Amino acid sequence: MTHSTFGVVMNGVTGRMGYRQHLVRSILAIRDQGGVELADGSRVVLEPILVGRDAAKLERIAAQHGLDRWTTRLDEALDDPAAGIYFDAQVTSAREAAIKAAIAAGKHIYTEKPVAESGEGALGLARAARDAGVRSGVVHDKLYLPGIRKLRRLVDSGFFGRILSVRGEFGYWVFEGDWQSTQRPSWNYRAEDGGGLVVDMFCHWNYVLENLFGRVEAVTARTATHIPQRFREDGSTYTATADDAAYGIFELTGGIIAQINSSWCVRVNRDELVEFQVDGTEGSAVAGLFGCRVQHRANTPRAVWDPDRPVAERFRDQWLDVPDNGQIDNGFKVQWEEFVRHVVDGAGHPYDFLSGARGIQLAEAGLRSSASGQRVALAELTP
Ligand SMILES: NC(=O)c1ccc[n+]([C@@H]2O[C@H](COP(=O)([O-])OP(=O)(O)OC[C@H]3O[C@@H](n4cnc5c(N)ncnc54)[C@H](O)[C@@H]3O)[C@@H](O)[C@H]2O)c1
Repeated sequence: MTHSTFGVVMNGVTGRMGYRQHLVRSILAIRDQGGVELADGSRVVLEPILVGRDAAKLERIAAQHGLDRWTTRLDEALDDPAAGIYFDAQVTSAREAAIKAAIAAGKHIYTEKPVAESGEGALGLARAARDAGVRSGVVHDKLYLPGIRKLRRLVDSGFFGRILSVRGEFGYWVFEGDWQSTQRPSWNYRAEDGGGLVVDMFCHWNYVLENLFGRVEAVTARTATHIPQRFREDGSTYTATADDAAYGIFELTGGIIAQINSSWCVRVNRDELVEFQVDGTEGSAVAGLFGCRVQHRANTPRAVWDPDRPVAERFRDQWLDVPDNGQIDNGFKVQWEEFVRHVVDGAGHPYDFLSGARGIQLAEAGLRSSASGQRVALAELTP
């Protein structure tokens, strides 16, 4: 079996996503399995070059995982002709400039979402990548969740008949950071640092909705900053300037209505941290991160509203589990393998900068809707 090596510049690997999902669970896991297998059976071995601002942290991570290449100089890493891909998991506000530099250096780009802080910025990057002839990819991780894959299987099988509506519940309580440490970075709650729930989550909802059900044609949203003051990592207080909850209605092609509540200020009374209920003429499903349950038209019990009698039925027991039917690998790793095949083998890859730009377009439209109190229609983006 033949092997080739491919350098990957990884920026932001000291962060939550960059370290755990991308370095450890993707790039190092791919290294441990002997590389990415291509269509002809040969393999590409990925060689990470770590980039960040803190030399001590980078050195520690490199030593811990037996890596010898790290630098605090992005330009130095981009100058390496053996590096074919630039990857970005920095804070969102630092991304656009770094990706521009990587495109100018002729690297293919794979990045965390959102691609940029504005739709215009993301579209600019999509055009720059196209003009430079480099390939682009954006993390679309929710599509790779086992529960969402099962949901997609149901859609593809025609299980639902005509899909009428989608109802999503996403969220959990994020501690403010005083009497219990917070479980998310504090920049997430400051608009001036690229934070905010809409910017964070509407990018995800856009690709979930358009890949499973239809393009988002219009949005009506109401955002809130429910918790006005939070605590930084060092214990000092700050004013939350970004939204920490969003209540949205999304109109999709084909007349499907999706409603999604997204909040970092709710306590979980669900089976999973995100759940989508899909109702169609022939059947319904509830999908989460891992599980997916269905109820077919033929198994739908006759519900009767009766205020005089306590409920005797256990409604949730009336649903059937959709089986895994196979092993489902880590979604971040699978996306890395697909992107490498896209770059090296020319395999198709729909989750590019333009798809990422549609996500930010939706986030901007959601924020505009909330500020104006109006429904906002979305124009189709062209590169
Ligand atoms: N796909 C997903 O499900 C998912 C989940 C969470 C976050 N994200 C995205 O991943 C990115 C990183 O989020 P995170 O939660 O890992 O954040 P984090 O704060 O844990 O990590 C951010 C990284 O950026 C670096 N950084 C911080 N400030 C910087 C600055 N001013 N300039 C340059 N670098 C800076 C940090 O050193 C760190 O390496 C964000 O764009 C976020 O939207 C995606």
